[in-house]
Amino acid sequence: MYSLPDLEPIRDFDAIAVLTSGGDSPGMNPAVRGVVRAALNSAMQVYGVQKGYSGLVAGDLRKMTSSSVRNIVQRGGTILKSDRCEAFKDPGIRQKAAANLKAAGVGALIVIGGDGSLTGAHLLAEESDIVVIGLPGTIDNDIFGTEDTIGFDTAVNTALDAIDKIRDTASSHERYFLVEVMGRNSGFLATHVGIAAGAEMVVVPEYQVDTEELGRHLSENRRTGKSASGIIVVAEGREPGLTYRLAQQLQRQGEDPRVCILGHIQRGGQPSGHDRVLASELGAMAVSYLLAGYNDIMVGVAEGAIVDIPLDSVIRYRKGLDPQLFQLALLLHR
Ligand code: F6P
Repeated sequence: MYSLPDLEPIRDFDAIAVLTSGGDSPGMNPAVRGVVRAALNSAMQVYGVQKGYSGLVAGDLRKMTSSSVRNIVQRGGTILKSDRCEAFKDPGIRQKAAANLKAAGVGALIVIGGDGSLTGAHLLAEESDIVVIGLPGTIDNDIFGTEDTIGFDTAVNTALDAIDKIRDTASSHERYFLVEVMGRNSGFLATHVGIAAGAEMVVVPEYQVDTEELGRHLSENRRTGKSASGIIVVAEGREPGLTYRLAQQLQRQGEDPRVCILGHIQRGGQPSGHDRVLASELGAMAVSYLLAGYNDIMVGVAEGAIVDIPLDSVIRYRKGLDPQLFQLALLLHR
């Protein structure tokens, strides 16, 4: 799918480890499979760390074989389990994690997760002699330096599947529906879903919405017979209850909208074909980058190719939502 770099192996490792961290995303399993199979093909031992950084700190490393990853390419979630490990923000705890890896003879770690997880990966690389490579695993697609993340495509499709059904009932009852998708800090998912679902409006954390104007627009549509039902896609944003507050505002303006929160449904389910291939490529290439002598990088996607980006940049900069894409989401419904 994305073209692969040609990397020259210049070093070797007896053993490496892999973990999944933060909010899970569909495709983490094929990524783990890619890492494990590529490492075994290069005659390394592979350990699966259980439950993200918590398992690393607890020393819960389990040896993986080719059959450990058999029949998982199509499964959602992560066989390694995942969590958000607050304790890993403590440098002393990170030292303990590095010591656990060294005690097991592990020289390199591959971390699959979102921005918080990649921050932990960068700090571990900086503060220890463990070689660390990150892979972008999040449904949010909000990671700087990569155009695609493992799980984004599946989450878009999962949301679309739900919205297509919601549109049926919205149309039967001539109602507007506010459909909340995930995305605390970013509107990538909401914008892509909005475009693909033909939403009347998309609300994202990056841009201010004039809710009164939105209400007027919907009432006008109803009055002129342009449309009496439709979908407004809302990214969850930072403040809980945003979507309900928006619905109340529309009620005050005479509409009778309904709210549907898609929530964690978007994080589960079988990874799409796109995500399976992406995850397999990234997993296998993470091993190639290790062998080629890279450290403290994320392997991601840019301009149709698999590329490396320093983890330092990944965590320092914020990936902005393309304003033109957002405008397109609004424009196509006028
Ligand atoms: O980062 C992925 C994500 O799914 C966000 O879109 C969402 O805001 C968050 O995780 C939810 O996290 P949790 O499952 O910990 O509540």
